[in-house]
Amino acid sequence: MPLFQKKDLNILLENSIAREKTYGLLDLVLLGVGAIIGTGILVLTGIIAATDAGPAVVVSFIISAIAATIIGLCYAEVSSSIPCSGSIYGYAWVVLGQFPAHLLGWTMIGVYILTAATVANGWTGYFNALLLDFHITLPEELLHTPIQSGWINLPSVIIVLVISFLLTRGSKESKVVNNLMVLIKLVIITLFIVVGVFYVEPGNWTPFAPFGVQGIFAGAATAFFSFLGFDALATTAEEVKDVQKTLPKAIILSVLVATTLYVAVCLIMTGMMKYTYLDVPEAMTFVMKAAGQDVVAAIIAAGSVIGILAVILAFILGSSNIIMSMGRGGFLPKKFSAINKKYHSPNRAIWTVGILTAIFSGLMDVKSLANLANIGSLIAFAVICFIVIRFRKTHPDINRDFKVPFTPIVPLLGIAICIFLVANLDAMSWIVFLIWLLLGTLFYFTYSKKHIEN
Ligand code: ALA
Repeated sequence: MPLFQKKDLNILLENSIAREKTYGLLDLVLLGVGAIIGTGILVLTGIIAATDAGPAVVVSFIISAIAATIIGLCYAEVSSSIPCSGSIYGYAWVVLGQFPAHLLGWTMIGVYILTAATVANGWTGYFNALLLDFHITLPEELLHTPIQSGWINLPSVIIVLVISFLLTRGSKESKVVNNLMVLIKLVIITLFIVVGVFYVEPGNWTPFAPFGVQGIFAGAATAFFSFLGFDALATTAEEVKDVQKTLPKAIILSVLVATTLYVAVCLIMTGMMKYTYLDVPEAMTFVMKAAGQDVVAAIIAAGSVIGILAVILAFILGSSNIIMSMGRGGFLPKKFSAINKKYHSPNRAIWTVGILTAIFSGLMDVKSLANLANIGSLIAFAVICFIVIRFRKTHPDINRDFKVPFTPIVPLLGIAICIFLVANLDAMSWIVFLIWLLLGTLFYFTYSKKHIEN
């Protein structure tokens, strides 16, 4: 049946090797940390503590970290044995067939666009805090989305378009800029931890879980956003040196670094100030200012403004790589797969993603965007875990330098955690997600089905 017709693995890989191999382990870990650490820890931590979990936000983050590690392991096995830049869409094509592949690719394009939009939207909070330090005040209407009684989140729109432009100049240049931004981000988070630890009042940790277990789980479902990014690594597979060894190591290392920092930040932030006061988008600078550390707060605001850019960059890159790859396979119009001759980058795909990201970040609020991104990614990640099990059966002899331990138990656990977290998300996110899938299905039957080249 064409719907479930599978792609020959060798043909998929042959079509995938045209791009320059520029990423080594350090580059990839920096890209991973760059994609993972961002709005989640800088913006959502305070909001989750105040509205969902209280000081037990640290437990929410640990639950998400366990989920991310298990999914990361599954991603590592699949992405290192099928190194193609379409990522999940390519894996699903080989293992499950063209229709599931189309829906998954379609889902991930949406997820990455929404993730980039969430991050850009959250970025505005720190950007505004920085401007205020210089006594520059932007009109409220240009900082807030219509739902927040504003017109548009204009800074986020501008930054998304600037980053898209940077990416169209080729991944080499963007890699250097990315690495610099990641280092800045690590420095400011470490600064927050080292200075903040002196202001912790253990009394602020009581009550520890004011909203009960349900609040901790709801917090974990939102906090999962903070770990999105390890999957963006997999989309660069075509550009990685010694991919089968490098990619799994990079995914696991990135999640480990992020988890360590997140746990420390959660404990310190909720220890510095009562959780009830943390419902602000720029919580890190907010608590530092309250502690009288104005200079540290200003450094953190400036560093966040630069550091978060790396996350936006990684997700625009991830989404455009999937679009390029789906264009190549005939799932989307061929013109999306064109690579710019001078800069070796898929410019048409990048601009498509950039413009859509700018629209969403300008017009929607940060928590709705994050939850929408989460629902799509958790469902796609459950499928990745399933693919590990299936792929071992369909292609038992393929060279696997990295294998998920205790398969199928670990991938099954991954599926269970994804379903559990997704069940804790709100009904509105489910409705929007189902509409997006319906559009994808319509596109498949009216366009893709006739153009896919198996
Ligand atoms: N994990 C990324 C962030 O928190 C998406 O910004």
